[in-house]
Amino acid sequence: MTDATQGAPLPKPGILDIAPYVGGKSAIAGVAEPMKLSSNENALGAGERARAAYEAALKNIHIYPDGRATKLRAAVAEHHGLEPERLIFGNGSDEVFALLNQTYLTAGDNIVCGQYGFLAYRISAKACEAEVKLAPEPGYKAEVDALLEQVDDRTKIVYVSNPSNPTGSYNAAEEIRRLHAALPAHVLLVIDEAYAEFVVEADWETAFPLARDAANIVVTRTFSKIHGLGGLRIGFGYAPLAVAEAVDRIRLPFNVSVPGLDAATAALGDEAHQKASRDLVTTWKPRLTQAIKGFGFEVLPSAGNFVLVLFRDVEQATAASDYLNQKGIIVRPVGGYGLPQGLRITVGTDDQNRAVIDALSEFAAA
Ligand SMILES: Cc1ncc(COP(=O)(O)O)c(C=O)c1O
Repeated sequence: MTDATQGAPLPKPGILDIAPYVGGKSAIAGVAEPMKLSSNENALGAGERARAAYEAALKNIHIYPDGRATKLRAAVAEHHGLEPERLIFGNGSDEVFALLNQTYLTAGDNIVCGQYGFLAYRISAKACEAEVKLAPEPGYKAEVDALLEQVDDRTKIVYVSNPSNPTGSYNAAEEIRRLHAALPAHVLLVIDEAYAEFVVEADWETAFPLARDAANIVVTRTFSKIHGLGGLRIGFGYAPLAVAEAVDRIRLPFNVSVPGLDAATAALGDEAHQKASRDLVTTWKPRLTQAIKGFGFEVLPSAGNFVLVLFRDVEQATAASDYLNQKGIIVRPVGGYGLPQGLRITVGTDDQNRAVIDALSEFAAA
């Protein structure tokens, strides 16, 4: 008998060493409608204007989308005061990271990010046969000097999420400026501002102005968080024109869908929904933090729409996650980030947050 696998196609080097990304769990056996607080989604859902635009797009779903995202491009440029031709749109900001990696990385190059940096940067870098160099984050926060220490001749991209996921930490504007000033000109600095709209910390600033005059900064944003459109997959990057034009050569022609483009354009104008989403987080994040700390667990300060709870050890974190599951609540274990003692909890609706507090109070008392 011949071995059917003999001579079968083999993935290129490194692919099978990549641990697949595991998204937030979304179901609990026997629970019809679990409270999903595992993916930092918007607890209020999408706004009415985005939903109406999505429904109206139904009549156009047989038409290929506008590959240039002309309307959304103009709306984003206007909203943030950016040059439209410098924007890169992606199927989520995840795709923008993948496109940047594909455009700049060859085998043997490397990217640098913080020890607990977002996993999406790393997966697509490895797919380019690049190395991922992690800078230690002893305080659960990206450190400028530690990042710089990892940079070498083969570094093509440094990724900083600001604020960061899953830790919730952020870097002050001064730190970002110092990092950029110290980087060699050949290194692209990608500043991922997925959670920008939730930040209230006074020393944080968007890096859009810094990027405006730099030849090596890309700032990314997403419609998945404040705008509640995670399911539609839309994100963008603000890049130097040369970078945007280079990336555009490999971008798939129709990478953002018709309903996605229309809903995102509408969402951008829905200030009321953005405010309500921000207010929910600003109200509940300190309450959740204080309550959970009161039960004796460590909660890291967070500038995003979530908190990271650090338990005594992996056993306690697993027991807490199981207990929350029994109460119909799904949170996110973050062992994949090297934080097995951590559970990341997205700020939910009033009822969901109360349910989390009640459940953790019971868990702590048990
Ligand atoms: C830091 C960070 N960047 C980017 C993203 C992904 O955003 P998108 O849905 O636009 O791909 C997330 C999503 O959780 C995130 O936490």
